[in-house]
Amino acid sequence: MSRTPTIIRDPQEIRSLCDEERARGASVCLVPTMGALHEGHLGLVREAASHGDLVVVSIFVNPAQFAPGEDFDLYPRNLADDMDKLAPAGAALVFAPSVETMYPSNAGTTISVNGITEGLCGAHRPGHFAGVATIVAKLFNIIGPCTAVFGRKDYQQLQVIRKMTLDLNMPVKIVGMATVREPDGLAMSSRNEYLSDEERSRATAIPSGLAATHALFDRGERNVKALLRPVISSIEGACDSIDYITAADPGSLEPLEDEALADETMLIALAVRIGKTRLIDNTVLGEDRSPLPGPGN
Ligand code: PAF
Repeated sequence: MSRTPTIIRDPQEIRSLCDEERARGASVCLVPTMGALHEGHLGLVREAASHGDLVVVSIFVNPAQFAPGEDFDLYPRNLADDMDKLAPAGAALVFAPSVETMYPSNAGTTISVNGITEGLCGAHRPGHFAGVATIVAKLFNIIGPCTAVFGRKDYQQLQVIRKMTLDLNMPVKIVGMATVREPDGLAMSSRNEYLSDEERSRATAIPSGLAATHALFDRGERNVKALLRPVISSIEGACDSIDYITAADPGSLEPLEDEALADETMLIALAVRIGKTRLIDNTVLGEDRSPLPGPGN
């Protein structure tokens, strides 16, 4: 029978609980989230149960990763709903601190990961990845996980966190999980809640475009410009604006020129706006499944 996880709000208290479990020989696995949990998050929690004896989920809408004018105030918050969803997924503890606890007014340290944060979303959301890296480092320090699980939908975030743990010798194994999609291919996201019915139906252009690119890649096309063409043309007609649609190296996130040829794997990452909602998605050709699997996939 599934047990409702215990909510802890105080960093010292959750650290002591995790220390006690470690002293008994248990390993701790963390799933950092901002709540508004959907099936994508629950998949991360289920995965976490296979990496640690004690699964901790953090739920914290982190103000430091939102710029002024972004959706920090609007971001959906419903802890009671989240707790109901977490019970069957295998989380033992939920860490849900307040903003004041995590950012006391005299806090003055930020972690900035250079290089990999400059392109893609980093170019459009200044300060965002410093906010992400700082909160994730704080969560690692408070909880002390052996393993932490993140979704590949936030592909750049995952690479930033991998780099931070490597650069700062953090003893945490980072696991990246495949994007979970709706039946029509749209990547699950807490922000999908913002979309009207009409906007939601336009959003299917994103997975359709990425799927068309997968099909081209599978037929042997390697020219970057040709691989980007279907995703650009699908999205251009459906979205209100495009922050970026970029082909890049999946490890360094260095963008590839139009004339370049894709390697064995190639990242296509994008951020677009539909109405007021900013949606991101990505796929690694040669590695990920198509967002809309055909009969052979
Ligand atoms: O992916 C998210 O939900 C957030 O960026 C994270 C990793 C929980 C940090 O606030």
